[in-house]
Amino acid sequence: MTEMNSKQYIALAMRQAADVPGITPGIIGRDIKKVAVIGAGTMGAGIAVCFLGAGIRTVLMDQSEEALAKGKATIGGVFAAGVKKGRLTPDQAEGIQVLLSTTLDYADLADCDLIIEAVFERMDIKEDVFGRLGKIAKDGAVLATNTSGLDVDHIAAASGRPHDVVGLHFFSPAYVMPLLEIVRGKETSPEVLKTALFASTIINKIGIVVANCFGFAANRMLRGYGRESEFMLLEGANPGDIDQAITNYGFPMGPCAMGDLAGIDISNFVNDALRAEGLVPDDPRLGVMGKALAAEGRLGQKTKAGNYDYGEDGRTPIPSPKVLEIRDRVAAELGIEKREISEEEIVERCLLPIINEAAKILDEGVVNNTGSIDLLWIYGFGFPAAKGGPVYQAREMGYEQVLSKLNAYKDADPQFGDVYWAPAAALQKLFN
Ligand SMILES: NC(=O)c1ccc[n+]([C@@H]2O[C@H](COP(=O)([O-])OP(=O)(O)OC[C@H]3O[C@@H](n4cnc5c(N)ncnc54)[C@H](O)[C@@H]3O)[C@@H](O)[C@H]2O)c1
Repeated sequence: MTEMNSKQYIALAMRQAADVPGITPGIIGRDIKKVAVIGAGTMGAGIAVCFLGAGIRTVLMDQSEEALAKGKATIGGVFAAGVKKGRLTPDQAEGIQVLLSTTLDYADLADCDLIIEAVFERMDIKEDVFGRLGKIAKDGAVLATNTSGLDVDHIAAASGRPHDVVGLHFFSPAYVMPLLEIVRGKETSPEVLKTALFASTIINKIGIVVANCFGFAANRMLRGYGRESEFMLLEGANPGDIDQAITNYGFPMGPCAMGDLAGIDISNFVNDALRAEGLVPDDPRLGVMGKALAAEGRLGQKTKAGNYDYGEDGRTPIPSPKVLEIRDRVAAELGIEKREISEEEIVERCLLPIINEAAKILDEGVVNNTGSIDLLWIYGFGFPAAKGGPVYQAREMGYEQVLSKLNAYKDADPQFGDVYWAPAAALQKLFN
């Protein structure tokens, strides 16, 4: 049992996370008067909303007028919704959007203080973008990537000025989720890191500094959560059962609805990249549902169909008989038998892999403290704050209990249990 209640614990976690090694009060960040966002898709448009909302001139760049028009319409839609909800007057919404300009030309980014890349999750494209930025960005510009997990050092090297490069990993929807995962590259300068922290405060986000590794801290911990929810789907739980268990636990949405929001194609990209890097075992169940859904054009909310169907508003999940049909077919092909899965099992299989991975990232120094882990979950993925976060919950359960549950799930999967469930060597560190 933890001695602090979850509120006191989160306040302490905030103080722990603000203590970033090497970032002393004497380090001065750089001014941010003008921002550019490259890629006007889901994330780019959302990131532009954040800076526009903070009163900062923002240039949005993409490869075609169509993509820019789509991005501009998304941005306009967000501010129009703000007016409808009474958060802004129509004049304010219009005034804010005067700060927005769009371009197809890199030359228009030359006077920006902060340039954030949010193009497709492909290293070759990111390399190309950063190669160009290295040539056109002004001296002292901070160059940021919103990659979900590609190697920030590799991207930084492509710019030819790696000390200016940092990861600014936003969460979807970027203008809603309060977390900004700030990825410190091997060569990121302290001034650039300080500027990234400053950027997080001006757009009203909780900036958590983590080290570079595949998936960084947040998405690395999300992997097991996503994997187990997909496996439980194959084993017979419906998307609604899984999501209901997780929302009953206190999350605002479950993993299936979250997958639809982020885009099934995004998780497919990530699974492909993990395979290519040899970071996952040769398990035919891994990512198979995502691929089967995508093959039917079900990429999530963006195609109005994913783990659920989506009606006119494009946002409200509707149970889909088609998904169950796809699931039954895929499960039969893999010889997976259907069974009843209890709510307790759903919660445990989603939560325990997070705890286990948390111990690994703490041990590897991807995060400096346990508080950051819980903040990443609360502010990035909607972990119920009243439950304090996964580490807080692990401490509530106690080391022996966590260990024995991990071992039980390991034994239940003779083929891949060792890979997915073996207790982290440093598990105990979470409890110190
Ligand atoms: N979707 C999420 O939930 C999420 C969350 C965090 C981070 N990310 C990351 O953000 C990035 C963008 O993801 P997204 O979901 O917004 O993708 P998206 O497909 O919605 O948008 C990508 C945009 O980039 C544009 N683009 C592609 N290549 C370009 C180039 N060379 N120059 C200029 N523009 C180019 C495309 O035209 C498109 O408009 C990816 O790296 C992704 O991993 C996504």
